[in-house]
Amino acid sequence: MHFLAVYIPEEKINDIKNAADIVDIISEVVVLKKSGKNFLGLCPFHSEKTPSFTVSTDKQIFYCFGCSAGGNVFSFLMKQEGISFPDAVRMLARRYGIDIPVQTMSPEQKRQISQRESVLAINKQAMDFFRCALLENTSGKKAMEYLLKRGISREIINDFKIGYAPEGWDNLAIYFSKNKQPDELVEKSGLIIPRKGKSGFYDRFRSRIIFPIFDINMQVIGFGGRVLDDSLPKYLNSPETPVYNKSRSLYGLHVAKGKCRESKTVFIVEGYFDLLALHQHGIQNSVATLGTSLTPEHVQILRGFIGKDGRIVLVYDSDLAGIKAAQRSIEVFDRGYVNAAIVVLPSGHDPDSYLLEFGTEPFMNLAAESKGVISFLIDCAVKKHGLSTEGKIHIISDMKAPLAAINDNVARSLYVKELAERVDIDEKAVLEKVRQVSAGKRSDIASPSADYVLQNNGNRLERQIISMMLQFPEVLPEVYNRGLLNLFEDNILKSIGQFILKRKDSPGDLVSELMAVVDDKDKKSIIASLAMGDELWDRDECLKLITQFESSRYRNERKLLQEIKAAEDRNDHELVLRLLKKKQMQIKKTK
Ligand code: CTP
Ligand code: MN
Repeated sequence: MHFLAVYIPEEKINDIKNAADIVDIISEVVVLKKSGKNFLGLCPFHSEKTPSFTVSTDKQIFYCFGCSAGGNVFSFLMKQEGISFPDAVRMLARRYGIDIPVQTMSPEQKRQISQRESVLAINKQAMDFFRCALLENTSGKKAMEYLLKRGISREIINDFKIGYAPEGWDNLAIYFSKNKQPDELVEKSGLIIPRKGKSGFYDRFRSRIIFPIFDINMQVIGFGGRVLDDSLPKYLNSPETPVYNKSRSLYGLHVAKGKCRESKTVFIVEGYFDLLALHQHGIQNSVATLGTSLTPEHVQILRGFIGKDGRIVLVYDSDLAGIKAAQRSIEVFDRGYVNAAIVVLPSGHDPDSYLLEFGTEPFMNLAAESKGVISFLIDCAVKKHGLSTEGKIHIISDMKAPLAAINDNVARSLYVKELAERVDIDEKAVLEKVRQVSAGKRSDIASPSADYVLQNNGNRLERQIISMMLQFPEVLPEVYNRGLLNLFEDNILKSIGQFILKRKDSPGDLVSELMAVVDDKDKKSIIASLAMGDELWDRDECLKLITQFESSRYRNERKLLQEIKAAEDRNDHELVLRLLKKKQMQIKKTK
């Protein structure tokens, strides 16, 4: 995330953070009520009836105990507005009248920015080259015929700046060297590739229809290319470059964004031609993922346009692709946001061929009848297994993992109910199955979430120590010198502790910084919930806790030794073995 911070000097980011009050900013969209040290409100990121969205003034962070969304003032704006980090920084800078001078960048920062800009410029030139080749070059005629034959109109070809990479190994390479563009720079764009074992470069795209990929600012960030015949690979895309990141890019978004906003809906397809067909048929609120499945970043970007309650309609060309996408989407649409719908087209069709054959209206009818992803999965399971007793058992077994993956409790229980009714099984029995999966997940600490933090009393002392470290950083040298973390049993807590110690020389807003750098959701939620506690720490309190923790750990050790001895006396070999293993773990940890 922080590669984008290149644009803005770190001190400025701090100035902005100091000027902005997270409570002010969040109050604009969430009604907050004072509660103890913190503020409480209804979470804007998932639907809830009782407030679990907490904002801390002194830590300048927010955290939702319901959906585990959390972070600092920048993360809030990024999530709420669906914008990037530098955009969030700029938004606040504007609001608080802070100038962001461009000239204070370091030479390295300048180099990176100018590299990005050069690559964008090169992409633009390449796009013009490909367009010329399609419209003017004699060999472009074939390509134009191909496009028209596939039903793409001249208007769409123009709107989407479609082009053609002529046959031959180095048309583009020669074009750039004539234009005195340095090879290394052109190579960065991914458009030319160094020849193996020889000097010189060759073109990545040859004899292909070219689809320029734009970002929302209409900059050309990359390209896709399709062959005109059956040769392989059918499609070729730009590699990742300083300006192209496929997990954040959506083909067609530059044209779709206005319509997405208006209609609060977006259609997502998989292919270039599918996307063009949708646009050509007047369904302009559509985008395509390119050679990758939908990512959380995609969803976040789209949510910025359709709003947080907007409708996402996934369009797939087969049951199998649909089922896979539906299963994946539960995690991608993180937390309560599984209200995406899925359309599976009649077999043998993709959106492009379907629209060409049947037109807009039948397509829109399918979309209108489309099911939510969970209901869709239930349908598929019913179709696959039937409603015999055996079938029902299989259905529940297919559905338990997707249901357990839903993090929003309310949503999950509604879907459990839907499944129970659909297959006519007691809701409690279904719930039991889902719980087994969730419990399995919890034991390997896949998603500890707020429950884990609040209910896991096993390591109460360890949690208190982390909480103390977060809330009273003066104690960090003590923690470090005594090697307290070595005594930790909980690995997540331990790694959070290590993280804090690593940053101990830049205390300031330790918590808010941590929330911004830590990517792992679980860690984030533990940090937030521990940092937001209502305890008041002072040095004496801290030392008392440390002593208590140390003696309990050493007591544990003694206790374990006694247990081992007792088990030996009883000749319980199995238990002895287990206890010895535990002992070994203890030793390893304190090393
Ligand atoms: N894709 C890709 N690389 C490939 C094959 C596919 O990046 N080797 C991506 C492209 O974005 C493509 C999409 O996956 O548009 C869907 O692929 P596929 O269904 O195979 O092709 P169609 O889009 O139907 O292409 P066409 O209609 O031109 O045959
Ligand atoms: Mn197709």
